[in-house]
Amino acid sequence: MQPSSSSQFETRAVHGGMHGVRASGSHVPVIDFSTTNPLGSVEAGGLSYEELATGHALGEGRSAVYQRLWQPGVARFEEALAGLEGTEGAVAFASGMAALSATLIAAASAGRPHVVAVRPLYGGTDHVLESGLLGTRVTWTDAARIATAIEPDTGLVIVETPANPTLELLDLRQAADAAGDVPLLVDNTFATPVLQRPVEFGAALVLHSATKYLGGHGDVMGGVVAGSQDWMERLRRVRALTGGLLHPMAAYLLHRGLRTLPVRVRAQQETAHVLAERLLAHPAVAGVRYPGLPGQDPAGLLGTQLDGPGSIIAIDLAGGYDAAARFTESCELITHAVSLGGVDSLVQHPASLTHRPVAGEAKPSAGTVRLSIGLEHVDDLTADLMAALDAAAEIGGLHSPDRADALSG
Ligand SMILES: Cc1ncc(COP(=O)(O)O)c(C=O)c1O
Repeated sequence: MQPSSSSQFETRAVHGGMHGVRASGSHVPVIDFSTTNPLGSVEAGGLSYEELATGHALGEGRSAVYQRLWQPGVARFEEALAGLEGTEGAVAFASGMAALSATLIAAASAGRPHVVAVRPLYGGTDHVLESGLLGTRVTWTDAARIATAIEPDTGLVIVETPANPTLELLDLRQAADAAGDVPLLVDNTFATPVLQRPVEFGAALVLHSATKYLGGHGDVMGGVVAGSQDWMERLRRVRALTGGLLHPMAAYLLHRGLRTLPVRVRAQQETAHVLAERLLAHPAVAGVRYPGLPGQDPAGLLGTQLDGPGSIIAIDLAGGYDAAARFTESCELITHAVSLGGVDSLVQHPASLTHRPVAGEAKPSAGTVRLSIGLEHVDDLTADLMAALDAAAEIGGLHSPDRADALSG
């Protein structure tokens, strides 16, 4: 059965994009690996090609022609994701960066190459904007000055909230108002549609590194942009021309990932909230950045724009870089690895990894580490974190706390 738009979020997460599956006699979608498809008559094949290459969706009775133009499993994932973000459509790509690149190319090729962007952003996004590689030019600004940064050829305003890696929150309604007619693109990777649906606050485009929470198991790469039908046609055209498409297997896994997204996000968040509070008690910690902690949501966005603080935590180590490195290398249950949003917890050092290319003052501090909290038991994670903090404390000559106190905290 297809969920209706009035179905609850969890129901849409489980049943979205499943049309026709039951009628076909299957329980889950069959993965179609075809790279090419029968065209029928020469006339019909040519028309199908024409429609898909210009960004239209597959028409009734038309051939899907060629996998770079249309793939049924990718379309299912896109439909399901759009249903969760509350947009007219979505277009999926091989990675989050391919999704962003296609959006930048679409804006620049329409004669609007100027981008207004608010830091902090994911380091790769920062890098591609700063490099101008795709023919765009960027003006960095802060949330309060978006309107004044806009120029006649501004094609996009780009923001991320909660931001990677420092978890700052940004008021999307204010950003959308300031952007005016310029489309506001929100990187919603950290929040996922479970916690935040940016179009409800005026965003035109929502971007995900689907590699993170949407897949959720650290075994699939993908990216997706959700928005209006008009924008989706533009993005499908760029995808058809430049080829950054999602593989059918990846599409299947991402679609499956959406079905458990609400329960994973909420369970991971619950653990992260407890850990954020426990971490504060350790003397090796100078600060914990987590939107759910007191004082970290000055604009009151939790509960209005953002339904929960999520499961990413940034810790500022009192002992700076050396302590951050020791902490990161001392985690055992938590893997020292890039990425986030999966069922297993990860730790990484943004200044030397994800945000390495970020220029000057915008680079995260050398004492900051980023944690992605997974689905392990909260006490096992606490024990691992406290042992790693004890090791980090040795660097700064700090006294290690009583582990039992921290665990019960
Ligand atoms: C917030 C955010 N946006 C975009 C990306 C890029 O996505 P991908 O690695 O899937 O290309 C990442 C990757 O870490 C990210 O964290």
